[in-house]
Amino acid sequence: MVSHDPLQGPQKLTQSQPGSIRSYSLRRGRLTRAQKRALDRHWTTYGLDLNAGVPACIYQADRPIVLEVGFGNGLSLLQQAQNEPEKCFIGIEVYLPNIGHLLHRLDAEGTTNVFLYHADALDVLTHCVPPLSIDRLQIYFPDPWPKKKHLKRRLIQVPTLPVFLSAIKPGGLLHMATDVLDYAQKMLEVVAANVCRRCELVNRQSGGDFSSRPAWRPETRFELTGRAENRQIYDLVIAVSN
Ligand SMILES: C[S@@+](CC[C@H](N)C(=O)[O-])C[C@H]1O[C@@H](n2cnc3c(N)ncnc32)[C@H](O)[C@@H]1O
Repeated sequence: MVSHDPLQGPQKLTQSQPGSIRSYSLRRGRLTRAQKRALDRHWTTYGLDLNAGVPACIYQADRPIVLEVGFGNGLSLLQQAQNEPEKCFIGIEVYLPNIGHLLHRLDAEGTTNVFLYHADALDVLTHCVPPLSIDRLQIYFPDPWPKKKHLKRRLIQVPTLPVFLSAIKPGGLLHMATDVLDYAQKMLEVVAANVCRRCELVNRQSGGDFSSRPAWRPETRFELTGRAENRQIYDLVIAVSN
């Protein structure tokens, strides 16, 4: 589990299920001075605690909730929160410098409809997010783990998909994007193989297997890298019902 007391500085992230396969490498990363200051000053405002159960913004859900897994530098999450101020955004990220970076920007821009977990998304979804509570769950450019021996570390797998799907409200959306064709095809296969919820690819490109990029998704940092290297982008917008 994660303990993160900003008063004591950034703490170590560990898993609640030690030994299980991780979708990320546990790199500690170096915090810039601004990131460290943002963690010290703003975690109490925006941070959510894995050990504290369901976040209040979900209890008091009088507005739609968007949950983003692995937000990276967080600038696309920030932009979405500003574009859709009527919604509450929950971001989950394991890499502490990314949390510090986004905290700094949230405070600088006075954005108040974003809350963050520093934790493994599978732990957050298992321990903190009630079933059927999320309107849109988004996973943009998850680590592709291209080597054959690492494929089992991909975040979207047959066993993990139900964890994501079970959080989504009936009529809600799961939105994934990647610039790796093989991963995009695997995502489609994993969705087709699931038996827990009814899923349908929507916003479909004419004549294509994937979705058009919906207006709500700004370009992300990893997307820009992919485009610069001439990779195609694949969006999968999945409507989830019972
Ligand atoms: C390839 S980056 C993409 C970042 C961002 N979505 C973008 O498109 O620029 C994947 C991110 O997911 C985070 N991540 C990987 N596995 C995670 C997990 N199980 N829970 C939360 N974050 C995770 C990594 O730390 C990393 O920042």
